[in-house]
Amino acid sequence: RNKLKLGIFGFGCVGTGLYKVLEEAESVDATIKKICIKHPDKPRPIDKKYFTTDKNELLYDSEIGVIVELIDDADAAFAIVSEAMKNGKSVVSANKKMIAEHLPELVKLEKKYQVPLLYEASVCASIPIIRNLEEYYDNDLLTSVSGIFNGSTNFILTKMIHEKLSYPVVLQEAQAKGFAESDPTLDVEGIDPKYKLCIILFHAFGLITKPESIFNFGISRISDFDLEFARQRNFTIKLIARCNKNNNEITGLCAPTFIEKENTLAHVNYEYNGVILKSAFSEKQLMIGKGAGDKPTGSAVLSDISALTYDYRYENKKYIHLNKQLKLVDTKIYK
Ligand code: HSE
Repeated sequence: RNKLKLGIFGFGCVGTGLYKVLEEAESVDATIKKICIKHPDKPRPIDKKYFTTDKNELLYDSEIGVIVELIDDADAAFAIVSEAMKNGKSVVSANKKMIAEHLPELVKLEKKYQVPLLYEASVCASIPIIRNLEEYYDNDLLTSVSGIFNGSTNFILTKMIHEKLSYPVVLQEAQAKGFAESDPTLDVEGIDPKYKLCIILFHAFGLITKPESIFNFGISRISDFDLEFARQRNFTIKLIARCNKNNNEITGLCAPTFIEKENTLAHVNYEYNGVILKSAFSEKQLMIGKGAGDKPTGSAVLSDISALTYDYRYENKKYIHLNKQLKLVDTKIYK
């Protein structure tokens, strides 16, 4: 096993989560060498010597084998990740926007420079969905992947429906807990789960599509009437993202949905996410886990780092088989 030296970009919610889980997970052979941050004067839980504001100190340090990209800005993240891969470094990222928007380029970079890029934390945080799509499921047998892919909106909806709290109050709480994006519009308008759906479409069906091709409708316009309507009928409301494959057609969308109490997803509450997979022989499977928060997301980043310490088995990933026959069909809903 290789002892890995990490260069981390970003030390916000996920970065501190990774730091905490690395401290506790002694079995992972990895140590932090440098952390690149924007604001050097903020108080931090580790010695100042680890921090720098100069990205080159990480990107061109030959001792650093793995770049862990945990920043907010997707364009800056893409620049960092591409440069790292060009320099032969393995990359771990949690940046769903960056991955979803740049999948074709990232696949090319992986092929050209033969370096692994792992991003388990980018979709549903602690749920190991990408690895399972890669290792367990056969693309041809999978028929749908759907569920709750956003912790903030699930937290907000749970509190609005069950605790009758108001939307602005619970949105603030989701922000304070570090669940929401720095621009929470991405959560509440269903854009963040749409990025995750793009990543899932790739790993489930080998399909690369632009986020703009997928319809999204968020939760910000859910009215008191909608909430009461749900309560009276014993329904709950969840922001559901889904993709289905039917012969050679794939549909995908993200929208709030009434869910009956008998449906297991009705009981996936607060910041938990739930993913339902359907495939020809295994039929229906459900994975539940925390979809946001420092340690749950940090644990997914750690699982990628840990995978790199084994044998770089992701170097020749099987997921580079784009099926040109498949096409994404626009789905629209009307309120
Ligand atoms: N803002 C995201 C969410 C964070 O609430 O699910 C995890 O991707």
